[in-house]
Amino acid sequence: MFKKNNSNNSNDRSSFTSKIGFVLAAAGSAVGLGNLWRFPYCAAKYGGGMFLLLYVILAVTFGFALMVSEIAIGRKTKLSAIGAFDKLKPEYSFVGVLASIVPVIITPYYCVIGGWVLKFLWSYIAMPANEVAATNANGLTVFEQLITSPTEPIIWFLFFLGFTILVIAIGVEKGIEKLSKILMPILVALVAIVAVYSCTLPGAMEGVKYYLRPNIKDLSVKTILSAMTQLFYSLSLAMGIMITYGSYLKKDVNIETSVWQIEIFDTIIAFLAGLAIIPAVFACGSPENLKAGPSLMFIILPQLFATMQAGRIIAILFFFLVFFAALTSSISLYETCVSIIQDKFKQKRTPSIVFTFFICIIIGLLSSLGYGPLAMVTFLGMQFLDLFDFLSNSVLMPVVAFFTCIFVGYVIKPNAIIDEVESSGNKFKLKQLFTVVIKYIAPILIVIILVASLLQAFGKISM
Ligand code: PHE
Repeated sequence: MFKKNNSNNSNDRSSFTSKIGFVLAAAGSAVGLGNLWRFPYCAAKYGGGMFLLLYVILAVTFGFALMVSEIAIGRKTKLSAIGAFDKLKPEYSFVGVLASIVPVIITPYYCVIGGWVLKFLWSYIAMPANEVAATNANGLTVFEQLITSPTEPIIWFLFFLGFTILVIAIGVEKGIEKLSKILMPILVALVAIVAVYSCTLPGAMEGVKYYLRPNIKDLSVKTILSAMTQLFYSLSLAMGIMITYGSYLKKDVNIETSVWQIEIFDTIIAFLAGLAIIPAVFACGSPENLKAGPSLMFIILPQLFATMQAGRIIAILFFFLVFFAALTSSISLYETCVSIIQDKFKQKRTPSIVFTFFICIIIGLLSSLGYGPLAMVTFLGMQFLDLFDFLSNSVLMPVVAFFTCIFVGYVIKPNAIIDEVESSGNKFKLKQLFTVVIKYIAPILIVIILVASLLQAFGKISM
């Protein structure tokens, strides 16, 4: 990816060696469980076509403006989030601090889901596809047995976390990134194949329609909020990561084009994942599963693979590739936590890795047990994993995004970003759109959505 450099000294920062290297590294961080696991269940739950439509509209306006801003702030200051805001306007350094809390919350539960992926990979290695799709004597699916077990989710979580730390500790991130450049395209091809298969199943057409046809009755504050938070999550926005990536970026790279490339790549994968999973929900004759939430992928895919010829082989390959995509993202998340602790608390690398590990263990254990032994513990009606996801995605990220817009729109002014984008010698083609979105549309939308979602979470309104 890039050479690590956690000091705040701008002179010795290494750079991406090539333009495409930057796009691939940023896309490697962006593409992960967010696309393959989170996007399909959010789309399924929040109205299919309407969710998809809102997602795309937000991606080309909001996502675009925010990603350009973050990368430009990073390149301009050559610092990561906390330092960057501090350097440009010390009163706004709290935005960097808030942004830094997000990966600390996400990393542990990301590793829990990564663990679920590993469990399915292992199941397909150990059992034929129809057995993975079957229920046990108590009528529980493999997935239900997993998440309600007091030990299994912890074991798989620790495996996934262990892989992540191992890669970081022995310093082979670069090798993993290189490998992911070969494996990612294979993943895209495989998801596309599964999507085509899924769409041709009897009964799947209903699902294709649900996924592709926006229905105005599905337009609600909740749908907009979920599309917006999914966008942040999937593009690794509003958590300081793109600022850090930007800080490593060379002056001659065209930020605008790079952002389009990252967005298109990320969205295509998410779209295909939705197309693989949502029609299959209908084909399996269980539209009630649309509301399944985080478990959707793990309920539907086993049923799909069980009907496929060579389903077991495809499943092994699929879960292996998902594991890999998740690993590249978890490495980038973990690294971010480590460098935040290093920068903020002036710690060395090894103690920071260890400290991050302890945070992961605490939050990860709660998330692992949240659907089993700790299922009775809920906050605002949410179990631990959903709660952490809610706090980071639906609360902190919109707040960070809001202040980033205010910061760019009214403190350093959009021109500061436009100049930085144009410093590579190209015109910023969509600078008008950028300015309007960052100054007016995005902050107003975020405030409305955030207030509505908080009121809703505390049960004051229903949407
Ligand atoms: N964007 C990643 C995904 O879609 C998640 C992630 C967020 C990874 C932040 C790195 C940093 O899975």
